Amino acid sequence: MTAAVDPEFDSFIVTAPNISSWLERRKDNPSRIELRGIWKQRWVMLRGRRLTYTKLQGDWDRDLEQGTVCDSGRIILTPEARIDPDDEGNAWGFKIVAKPGDEPWHFRASSEEEKRHWLTAIRNCVDISIWLQNYQIGAVLGGGAMGVVREWMNKKTQEKRAIKVIEIMKLKKPENAKTEIEILAHLSKNTTHPNLIKCHRVYEEVNKVFLIFDLCTGGELYERIVQERFSEKEASILIRKLSSATGELHRIGILHLDIKPENIIFQSPEDGGQPILTDFGLSQWWKSEEDTPMDAQECFGTPGFASPEMLSKGQYYPASDVFAIGAILYMLLVGFQPFRAKEAEEIIRRTVKGDYTMQGKDWDRISHDAKVLVQRMLEKNPRKRITIAEILEDPWIKACEKEDGTKAGKKNQLHDR
Ligand SMILES: Nc1ncnc2c1ncn2[C@@H]1O[C@H](COP(=O)(O)OP(=O)(O)O)[C@@H](O)[C@H]1O
Ligand SMILES: [Mg+2]
Repeated sequence: MTAAVDPEFDSFIVTAPNISSWLERRKDNPSRIELRGIWKQRWVMLRGRRLTYTKLQGDWDRDLEQGTVCDSGRIILTPEARIDPDDEGNAWGFKIVAKPGDEPWHFRASSEEEKRHWLTAIRNCVDISIWLQNYQIGAVLGGGAMGVVREWMNKKTQEKRAIKVIEIMKLKKPENAKTEIEILAHLSKNTTHPNLIKCHRVYEEVNKVFLIFDLCTGGELYERIVQERFSEKEASILIRKLSSATGELHRIGILHLDIKPENIIFQSPEDGGQPILTDFGLSQWWKSEEDTPMDAQECFGTPGFASPEMLSKGQYYPASDVFAIGAILYMLLVGFQPFRAKEAEEIIRRTVKGDYTMQGKDWDRISHDAKVLVQRMLEKNPRKRITIAEILEDPWIKACEKEDGTKAGKKNQLHDR
């Protein structure tokens, strides 16, 4: 079978076909000879790679549940699937073999157009599985609320990527996955910022979404904070890059809203490895303050990093991302969170009250300028909080920018302008 589309798809979002209609189906070898060669109307569905037929209009799973699967069937199309013309020469007929050695399934459409519609959908689906087959799934890289992220290698070129698999049905809010995909598509078209994750392609099946990212091999910022103490210079450089990436997001109309050490990963394990902001699972579109939903019921984000306005009123602004970066800066300087407590409720209460301290021996060795920036970023009132533009001009940030002579640092400086 020839591929209908290039296996290296051009489009960013590739959606597996989801079509259904009445087709006629013929059994090859029914046990009763008088039924041989008889065409019967069946409801045929192709959802992702799964092709089913049922006697009544509906889903194969329903038949299975109701115990009426005898007049229905299911096959999973494989990369070796074949589509051939009908043996009896029916112009609108075609036969499908899901994998080598399987019995063929014979179908007959009611028009040329309907036949073409079905063949295109089936070919697209097989092309996608051929493309997925070129890759080999590797080790688990991490997991969070949305799904598991694994290493993924192109068997032909040995090129490695990361793949995030989201199972839509398992999500509390499936609409978050939709927003994440739309935002990643927007990012891929509108920015090449070196500290924002690059997503290459999104492949959607009916219940699963596969997101293909650049592979980052340096681990999470979280692990680095736990393992080592950052110098002020290292902290300043990291906060500048993170603020620059966040500013770029805001410029193109996106609020991240879940900036935290687990969602910042390093491109490579080396010391100079670029920090990369990832995970747009809670991100939202941002136009202006007037558009912000004021839903007092809904608090969201991750306690410890989510801002007081998010936690108490469900409000979010660009300033909310600044607060989260402020909590990270605090952690980089002393190794623990500003609003720490065993229970999430207590963390939330402290955040909303602005109840944190910069006293004690951990803070004695920290410079005045660093402390001032922490305070300005953790300001309770979003309207009084320091802005991204001001952070990038802050004396403590500026002082270290000059010393960051790495290629990555220079690239960032260009972006900051
Ligand atoms: N491109 C990537 N390269 C390497 N590891 C990654 C990549 N993307 C995510 N991870 C790892 O997987 C974890 C979960 O990914 P994330 O996108 O944050 O999913 P979730 O929405 O489930 O939190 C991250 O915290 C990180 O450790
Ligand atoms: Mg995450």
